[in-house]
Amino acid sequence: MEGTHNQKGNFDADETCPSGRSTPIFAWTPLPQRRKLRFTEHKKDESATKELELYPNCDVNVWLRSCEEEIVEPLNGVIKGHIPPWLNGSLIRNGPGSLKAGNDEFSHLFDSSALLHRYGIKNGKVTYQCRFLQSDVYKKNWSANRIVLTEFGTRSVPDPCHTIFQRIAAVFNNEASDNAMISVYPIGDELYAFTEIPTIHRINKETLETEGKININDYLSIVNHTSHPHVLPDGTVYNLGTTIYATGPYHTIVKFPRDEKCDANTMFKNAKIVAEIPTRWPLNPSYMHTFGLTENFFIIVEQPLCISVPGMISAKFNNEPLAGCFRWYHEEYVC
Ligand SMILES: [Fe+2]
Repeated sequence: MEGTHNQKGNFDADETCPSGRSTPIFAWTPLPQRRKLRFTEHKKDESATKELELYPNCDVNVWLRSCEEEIVEPLNGVIKGHIPPWLNGSLIRNGPGSLKAGNDEFSHLFDSSALLHRYGIKNGKVTYQCRFLQSDVYKKNWSANRIVLTEFGTRSVPDPCHTIFQRIAAVFNNEASDNAMISVYPIGDELYAFTEIPTIHRINKETLETEGKININDYLSIVNHTSHPHVLPDGTVYNLGTTIYATGPYHTIVKFPRDEKCDANTMFKNAKIVAEIPTRWPLNPSYMHTFGLTENFFIIVEQPLCISVPGMISAKFNNEPLAGCFRWYHEEYVC
């Protein structure tokens, strides 16, 4: 995929990929045979065996822990060894922090509430802080003491006070979760927590407070984006998203141009789509977790793990988690 609008359309429609099959880049291939992944229905014994085989030195249970108490004031760490005096700065991480939501518990690791961690390194000493991201869904869950919104792998718990008609209305009003628990990236002089919906949260670099929320859709039209944008040495940020046009869904590259004053607001205002390519299967766009970037090209890999659009519509009506909408086409090639 080339990097600018001017170069759009230079691809050869009869190009042949390494597998020997034709890659009709600008024509959608027919919908492949349906194969549904069952993320939440696998047998426990089998998964335990696979975990042992795949990760013999990793205790996956650390991901399933729930933080009971935030550490707001920096806590002094015990130093083992020597930290060179020239090493100063902070390491900020994001990730799953709590499977609890009031009296309920999430069923999937990806639904765990975002917990931000900060390791402050200064003059040979290290401090630690952690705080939960104050996303809308986090605040709603804890004020209602239950899971109010269906997440990636967990169905919401209906409000016991709602009538049947209010429950039906709630399904249609169901917004996407803004629990941005995947990553943190700098945009301009600010730091943002990312998930795969185009809502990002501004984080205070010193206190880890959640200071604001940006909806990328206020600046351009994308329905999702990856949690792993690329930040160039000059501060320019590129990310991969999906845009729905009248002709179907497209993978789109979004550019947040560098601002001389490192002003994030200016970068958002100047954001633009600089490259786009139709998805191979319009009703089953390939799942994108990240993308490649070279001096001249954006590299997008369409692999056989897809998201079923009809499945998403069905899930919406039935208030089912998104995890059930993934489809695996194991006989299809990667392009
Ligand atoms: Fe990732």
